[in-house]
Amino acid sequence: MAYETLIVEVEDDVALIRMNRPDALNALNSKLMTELSSAVQAADRNDNVRVIVLTGSEKAFAAGADVKEMAGKSFVEVYFDNLFGPEADAIARVRKPMIAAVSGYCLGGGCELAMICDFIIASDTAKFGQPEINLGIVAGMGGTQRLTRFVGKSKSMDMHLTGRFMEVAEAERCGLVSRVFPAKDLMAEVMKIAKKIAEKSLLSTMAAKECVNRAQESALSEGILFERRVFHALFATEDQKEGMAAFMEKRQPQFRDK
Ligand code: HXC
Repeated sequence: MAYETLIVEVEDDVALIRMNRPDALNALNSKLMTELSSAVQAADRNDNVRVIVLTGSEKAFAAGADVKEMAGKSFVEVYFDNLFGPEADAIARVRKPMIAAVSGYCLGGGCELAMICDFIIASDTAKFGQPEINLGIVAGMGGTQRLTRFVGKSKSMDMHLTGRFMEVAEAERCGLVSRVFPAKDLMAEVMKIAKKIAEKSLLSTMAAKECVNRAQESALSEGILFERRVFHALFATEDQKEGMAAFMEKRQPQFRDK
C-alpha cells in the first residue's frame, strides 16, 4: 500500500516504516498519524513480518506533533477529536516486537512515539525532549507517564518542566535508549538487531513483549487518560494560542497565565 507520509518496506521478515515529511522534520500531523497506525496494524497482521522498525530521517525521528495543524484548535475540538489518542493506542496495542531507530530530533509527540515502541536504538546525533511546556501545553501522547517510567521522576520532571533537550549519552545513561551507534551505521545495525529477533520464535518474542509490558502497565492507562484530558484542556488557554503562534512567527512567547 502506498502512503503519503510514510515509506514502508518489508524485507527478510522485518517491516521498516519510515516517517517521511522532510520539510517539517517529520512533524506528526493527522495524515501521518492515521497512516502510521494503519501501517503498523497492517505489519502486525502480515504473516511475512516478525519485527517492526519505526524510523525517521537522519535529521529527525520526529520533531513532535504538527504545531501548525494544532495551533488554532479549541478545547472542544481536541476533546472531541481525542487528538492522536486512538492512533497512539492502536500503535501501543501492536503485538509484534517494534523497535524505534532514532536519529536527530526526537521531540514531543516524536519522543512519545519512540517510547511507545518496545525499545529505542539511537544514533549519536539523537536529541530527546518534551518541549510542550514552551508551547503552553503538556505532553499528550503518554510522555508524562512513559518518560517517568523510563528515566524516573527527577529526570522526567526536569525534561517536562524545562523543555530541555537530552543528548544521547545522557539518554543511554538513564535508560531511555538501549544502544547507541554512529549515525552512518544506525540503520544497518538496527536491521541486524531486528533480523536477530526475527530468527526467534514469534510466539516467544510476542510473549516476552507482553510480559515486559506487564511490568510497566500498572495504572498506565489511567495516567495516559488523565494526561490526555489535561492536554485537551490546555487548548482552552490563551497561553496555548500564544505559545503556538510564537513558534510559527519564530519569536519568544509572552505567557500571561491565562
Ligand atoms: C510543525 C515544525 C515542527 C513541528 C519543526 N517544524 N518542528 N512544524 N510542527 N513540531 C518545521 C519548522 O516550522 C520549519 O518549517 C521546518 O520544520 C524546519 O524547522 P526549523 O525550526 O527551521 O529547524 P531548526 O532551526 O533546525 O530547529 C529544529 C527544532 C525546531 C529545534 C526541532 O523546529 C523546534 O523547536 N520544533 C518544535 C518542537 C516542538 O515544540 N515539539 C513539540 C510539539 S507539541 P518552515 O516552514 O519554517 O521551514 C507535541 C504534543 C504532542 O508534540 C501531543 C500529541 C497528542
